[in-house]
Amino acid sequence: MKRIFSGIQPTSSMTLGNYLGAVRNWVDLQGPEFETIYCVVDLHALTQPQDPDALRTNTLSLAATLIAAGIDPGKSILFAQSHVHQHAELAWLFSCIARIGQLNRMTQFKEKAGKRRDEAYVGLYTYPVLMAADILLYKATHVPVGEDQKQHLELSREIAGSFNHRYGVDFFPLPEPQILGTATRVMSLRDGTKKMSKSDESDFSRINMTDEADLIAQKFRKARTDPHPLPEAPEGLEGRPEAENLVNIYAALARSSVEQVLAEHGGSQFSSFKQALTDVAVTALSPIAAAVNRLMADPAQLDAVLAEGAEKAEALAAPILADTRRLMGLAQRARG
Ligand code: AMP
Ligand code: TRP
Repeated sequence: MKRIFSGIQPTSSMTLGNYLGAVRNWVDLQGPEFETIYCVVDLHALTQPQDPDALRTNTLSLAATLIAAGIDPGKSILFAQSHVHQHAELAWLFSCIARIGQLNRMTQFKEKAGKRRDEAYVGLYTYPVLMAADILLYKATHVPVGEDQKQHLELSREIAGSFNHRYGVDFFPLPEPQILGTATRVMSLRDGTKKMSKSDESDFSRINMTDEADLIAQKFRKARTDPHPLPEAPEGLEGRPEAENLVNIYAALARSSVEQVLAEHGGSQFSSFKQALTDVAVTALSPIAAAVNRLMADPAQLDAVLAEGAEKAEALAAPILADTRRLMGLAQRARG
């Protein structure tokens, strides 16, 4: 069976970009065709300094948001990365497979480290190696992510290929990215050339999954646009990143296409389009926000869901790690 793995970092709350670019696809992929494994990647979150209490809380509230968005722990394995220690161990083994030149090419590191590269944490640099370990620890074949993770996935494929080649085996599959939908790269509401991100200092640059209806309306009202009405066809969005972003968001939320949205709203002013956009967003997001509140009222239950997920994940991971260790020549510890 095809096996899906994906992850999301528990750094503050989930954004509409995470939802449309990744998580909604995770929900849709649940079913008989795939075995689905979804992970709150708290070890990845540590690559930037985190307040310890906030990290713990965010791990739980992100699990709640995933469940509220439709990840069903009865259908998918849902767990926290640090609860399955094999992730960190395989990351070490892979750090002896990946090469410095490969990591030097990663644009996310260059962006996040900026000019002060010497001061960046080693973990931020080796982050894609841990990501490869996440995926290959389960021999996952398909990885649904947003556009920004494409390069990291390419590296995961290279690591799998190098491992197989070095040890003369066909052990790890080369995982395939699944970049699905009309909103694979949701942009900031303040700047249509920048990705919508949890870490942007302006909260008005993003919609959070738990924003109330009034705040969503306010954020879309204030979203940057240009002075022209909406075009009638997709070609008219060229060179208009803010307009394109809002239309893509609308199409994704309404499960429609850009063509169809423009057939309906072409010629409209942004003021009325933003109102319509608010309506589809509130309709899609308010039930999720309400479910998050219900789930967060019972943290012990969430802990139990994550514990059960970790147990199932570990049962899959342990034999794959044991085989990896053996293939690499690590001696087996005698049990006396
Ligand atoms: P992160 O928040 O970086 O852990 O991302 C979790 C998932 O959301 C990954 O699959 C990302 O590719 C996806 N994602 C994050 N931001 C965006 C965005 N602005 N547009 C589309 N997908 C995104
Ligand atoms: N690096 C991903 C992101 O920030 C999160 C992630 C970690 C991930 N491990 C993964 C995604 C494994 C897919 C598969 O978006």
